[in-house]
Amino acid sequence: MQFDFGQNWAEFSDHALTSERVGQARTDFLRLLEGIPMLGRSILDIGFGQGLSLLTAASLGAKVVGCDINPKCGDVVRRNRKFFPNIADSEIPVVIGSILDEATVRTLQEQGPASGYDIVHSWGVLHHTGDMRQAIANAASLVKPGGYFVVALYNRHWSSQLWLAVKWLYVKSPRIVQKLLVYGLYPVIWFAKLLVTGANPWRKERGMDFFYDVVDWVGGYPYEYASIDEVKEIVGSMGFECLRAVAAQVPTGCNEFLFKKPV
Ligand SMILES: C[S@@+](CC[C@H](N)C(=O)[O-])C[C@H]1O[C@@H](n2cnc3c(N)ncnc32)[C@H](O)[C@@H]1O
Repeated sequence: MQFDFGQNWAEFSDHALTSERVGQARTDFLRLLEGIPMLGRSILDIGFGQGLSLLTAASLGAKVVGCDINPKCGDVVRRNRKFFPNIADSEIPVVIGSILDEATVRTLQEQGPASGYDIVHSWGVLHHTGDMRQAIANAASLVKPGGYFVVALYNRHWSSQLWLAVKWLYVKSPRIVQKLLVYGLYPVIWFAKLLVTGANPWRKERGMDFFYDVVDWVGGYPYEYASIDEVKEIVGSMGFECLRAVAAQVPTGCNEFLFKKPV
């Protein structure tokens, strides 16, 4: 059973997405990909969700392809094009399917250049597939020699097992219990984030919104996690070089990685 990310992204887009947040998402996307030219490059965004990275890359002149398992995300990304005036009328190619599914991987190969994509980007996704290692392997296989693999994955922490239990309970529970979990944990997460970061938890990065993030954190199942060293080891064993690893702001957040595939 999987959390309905598409529904959460639809509600986030309808009620919380603003031009200011789109600008913030763009700034953080460019920071993560700093030094990598985008104009004319092929970019695959796996698990594009609300589509902010996918649409930012397209608006910067990249040749994009998106993939997400949740069909609602396809509708959301179409609607969110309005925030990107230079591509508002363009069709953004998306493949609805799982990165674990061989047929989906084949379709993604066919949609991109024969040698693979210049950049494969997947932020906060591969740990939600139910088989993180296989998902990493499938995503990495789509990078061309000399290309980049940009990935963000949940960090390993002593509380990760507790989070796993909370998320499992959420997806197994009726709607009323799901709401109680979200509203009950909201203040706990708010104070924990304040204590750990010393910053206002409502001030978010990447154009996100605290409430919809809490829904995602409480319900986002399947859920796996790995330390920075574990991810470097997994992706390194596929021949990639780690150019950058940025630790999560909070210990259970997502570590960000920039890997390069040898030529
Ligand atoms: C936490 S959201 C991240 C969205 C976006 N990448 C971002 O940075 O905000 C995870 C996304 O991964 C998608 N997803 C989950 N499992 C997937 C799978 N097996 N294949 C492709 N996408 C998947 C979900 O539908 C959801 O949109």
